[in-house]
Amino acid sequence: MWGTNLRIVLVVLGTLALYTLIANKIPQVQSEVPQTLTLGPNVTTEQLVAAGEKVYNGAGGCTTCHGLGTRAPNLLTDEKGQGPIGARCGRREPGKTCKQYLFESLDNPTAYVVAGYQPIMPVMTRQLPPEQIWAVIAFLESQGGTEDVTGADIPASAPPSPPGGGGTGAGGVAGGSTDPMTLFRAAGCVGCHKIGAEGGNVGPDLSHVGARRSAESIRTKILDPASSTARGFERFAGIMPKTFGTTLTAAQFEALVRFLAAHK
Ligand code: HEC
Ligand code: HEC
Repeated sequence: MWGTNLRIVLVVLGTLALYTLIANKIPQVQSEVPQTLTLGPNVTTEQLVAAGEKVYNGAGGCTTCHGLGTRAPNLLTDEKGQGPIGARCGRREPGKTCKQYLFESLDNPTAYVVAGYQPIMPVMTRQLPPEQIWAVIAFLESQGGTEDVTGADIPASAPPSPPGGGGTGAGGVAGGSTDPMTLFRAAGCVGCHKIGAEGGNVGPDLSHVGARRSAESIRTKILDPASSTARGFERFAGIMPKTFGTTLTAAQFEALVRFLAAHK
């Protein structure tokens, strides 16, 4: 009797300790996210450009790949004689305006892959709320082109960003689902990683990641991708987004970690 009670108490304490640990880890990542933008329908184009510059250099994570001159096309400076992005965006796809092309680049990056590059760009509309997407488009247009984004482009139904950060906020992705494969797809892991037959080849195949890494190691890797680099993928270090600590809820995050750790 006492033995059973004691065991229950220990399990409860252990679970509490685990969740406290996780809860303490996630805000550390969140605190790196710059301040929320509140851009209403009356926002001016100048305000959008200024906000977009902050997203580009901060929460958007664009500079992880762009601006190094190797991994991704230059956007703010000339790219192979075609000018900065604002000057070339209207000529990329026949029939698409600059604004339409830039939105597509962020919403469906593999629809048009710039020649000479790998299709590694993450789907940004999964990671950033609409007002930040449109702000960054205005900023890119301002690089050698014509800024024609207005408050009217931001979907009216878009709720303002939750306090404290970008991403999909406290509710998590996929309507808060904790089904791990749904999360694997909705969070965008599938764009870069395979599980079984499904997924991309930018990062390591995760079908047997549980044999290489403990749950703790997987947890740390997702919250802080710079903490370690998968062997054989040193060339791609820095590509994995750092935003999952804020886009996933704690419950979603744990479901995903357990699911991956069980893939031995
Ligand atoms: C993981 C690396 C990576 C990140 C992060 C990334 N991109 Fe990209 N991006 C690429 C690569 C590679 C290409 C070229 C291949 C392609 O077209 O998909 C590209 C292409 C583009 C293009 C089209 C460029 C052209 O010359 O037509 C735009 C616009 C763009 N990215 C904007 C952004 C913005 C804005 C962000 C941040 C919100 C961002 N990217 C984040 C890798 C990345
Ligand atoms: C834009 C591409 C990209 C996305 C999106 C991405 N990753 Fe990664 N990931 C990588 C790359 C590249 C590596 C290998 C380099 C490194 O270790 O940083 C990696 C490494 C990993 C590793 C270590 C694998 C090993 O064999 O040691 C894990 C675990 C992982 N990612 C999980 C995830 C999960 C879970 C998600 C979604 C929540 C995700 N990644 C989203 C690109 C990505």
